[in-house]
Amino acid sequence: MKFDGNKVQMIKFDQLGDEKGHLVVLEGMKDIPFDIKRIFYIYGSDADIVRGQHANRKSQFVLINVSGTSKVKVYDGKSEKVYDLDEPHLGIYLPKMVWKDMYDFSQDSVLLVLSNESYDPDEYVRDFDEYLSIIEKQD
Ligand code: TYD
Repeated sequence: MKFDGNKVQMIKFDQLGDEKGHLVVLEGMKDIPFDIKRIFYIYGSDADIVRGQHANRKSQFVLINVSGTSKVKVYDGKSEKVYDLDEPHLGIYLPKMVWKDMYDFSQDSVLLVLSNESYDPDEYVRDFDEYLSIIEKQD
């Protein structure tokens, strides 16, 4: 895996496979740039639903559409960019303290999420103005 520091980036996983089909392996600190502590997946969201809309003080994430497609809009306090998740061997790495929206879910979308942290609702920043003020103080 080529991993370029602590910034938002797409990660293309190796596809191991043969005539029987494909297989993707996700090992912490190898294919994924952190030790994996939490896994969850998101499915059954309609096309007009926007999920996320928060930043995390501690959690880093890798998001993979293992089935179907979705989009992720990421704001890092300076610029905003939209990423397409449209292949089961394609992930996006999100460092801590980026603001993210997940949307445009296809009907068959299963969005797998890996994180370096256990769930702690207190490390979620769900108010955008609060997010901006935290980011400003960091600079
Ligand atoms: P939420 O973070 O709002 O989902 P999304 O970012 O996809 O819009 O989480 C939805 C619900 O699930 C909320 O009640 C919190 C709960 N939850 C957990 O209990 N543990 C977790 O690891 C996550 C991600 C959510």
